[in-house]
Amino acid sequence: MEQSSLGLIGLAVMGENLALNIERHGFSVSVYNRTAERTRQLVEGRARGKRIRPTYDIREFVESLERPRRIFLMVQAGRPVDEVLAQLRPHLAAGDIVMDGGNSFFKDTDRRSAELAEAGIQYFGVGVSGGEAGALNGPCIMPGGPREAYPLIEPILTSIAAQTPDGPCCAYIGPRSAGHYVKMVHNGCEYAIMQLIAEAYDLLRSACRLSVPQLAELFAEWNRGELNSYLIEITAKVLERVDEETGQPLVDLILDQAGQKGTGKWTSQDALDLGVVIPNIDAALWGRNISALKGERVAAAKLLTGPDLPAEALDSGFVATMREALYAGMVISYAQAMALLRTASREYAYDLDLAEIARIWKGGCIIRARLLDLIQAAFRRDPSLANLLVAPECAAILARTQASLRRAVQAAVGLGIPVPGLGAALAYFDSYRRERLPVNLIQAQRDFFGAHTYQRIDRPGTFHTEWE
Ligand code: 6PG
Repeated sequence: MEQSSLGLIGLAVMGENLALNIERHGFSVSVYNRTAERTRQLVEGRARGKRIRPTYDIREFVESLERPRRIFLMVQAGRPVDEVLAQLRPHLAAGDIVMDGGNSFFKDTDRRSAELAEAGIQYFGVGVSGGEAGALNGPCIMPGGPREAYPLIEPILTSIAAQTPDGPCCAYIGPRSAGHYVKMVHNGCEYAIMQLIAEAYDLLRSACRLSVPQLAELFAEWNRGELNSYLIEITAKVLERVDEETGQPLVDLILDQAGQKGTGKWTSQDALDLGVVIPNIDAALWGRNISALKGERVAAAKLLTGPDLPAEALDSGFVATMREALYAGMVISYAQAMALLRTASREYAYDLDLAEIARIWKGGCIIRARLLDLIQAAFRRDPSLANLLVAPECAAILARTQASLRRAVQAAVGLGIPVPGLGAALAYFDSYRRERLPVNLIQAQRDFFGAHTYQRIDRPGTFHTEWE
């Protein structure tokens, strides 16, 4: 029997759709899944008549592949990846390539790369974004691993990726865990933008008294302008949806408790380790975490009061204010994500090309947005740009929109509507643009109680004062 171009392990939603995508682009695929039933369902169902070959044990799977073997793992991040690798390893030979397409923690990817490299196996941590539809029709793919082996997987990855006028949404990211790191930060940025959108929805609803159908129309309209992005687009669609049973907007029936699988949290944890400030991602995380305290919030709502919402809705001009505030918040969130990538690139020796990352994020992934054109241009012009906020195109956007961001935050504060994302964006912007921050006082306090010393602005050296 002819050997397959590629093997794929793990036939949950993402794996199944990715296998179909790969086959559709002219590559034969062998598939293997821990439970044989799932494999059978696929080959008797959606894969019928396609060059997708079912295999039912790991050895048969590996032997069905062309050499060097190219194997995509689409299994759950964490221990399942180690388990599959342990099963695979005795059957692999030097030169074979294994790609982990899940949301693995980047330090796990570093460990696995090093372990497999000892046997000459080329390991890639591949960020894949775009959900189920992306996997089938073209995701954004962020592969990291040994550069010399990349040409062996590049034709497959670039052909199955989303395509834009600016090329396929796949590019070599960097060595070792670079691909998974960039995917992790992508997810952190995804959290930040979702939080901002949720706050805009809340304010427009509570303060402007817009109905859900009006909001659906508004987001659809916003998606036709500078806010154009996948997350704004799906927000409009979510708001449009009516529950068939009750006739109410479905969004109103969804429990306000958000889940998470870890990538956003890892982003904040690593940013803290690297000393990079990403308050919008942090705010999105605590926004989700506090939402999880549903029972406590229900009880607190009866005891803790805030300002009453005014009888009159805010004037209609506030809708345009909100659009600009949201845009400013989005720019600031991307700036934080890019700043984290910039530091991580240096710290972990990834040698990231930030313009290229912005380019591949323009299609297929969850944070694709028109704004990425500007971000790509800014980093292409100046690859060592310290912060996106000081790129002329972003500085101009913030000069134009910051008054709206301030007005939105002021309105929310006055009304008692929590806006951790918008507030974080504004505080980040105001801190970053401020020549002098009040930490001179903090330095003095540290020196007061702990003799931590300080530096002076008028002469070099390290100083300590006997404060009492
Ligand atoms: C994507 C997504 C996806 C991710 C979730 C995050 O790029 O397709 O980022 O990979 O797993 O969207 O999920 P949680 O919100 O559950 O953490």
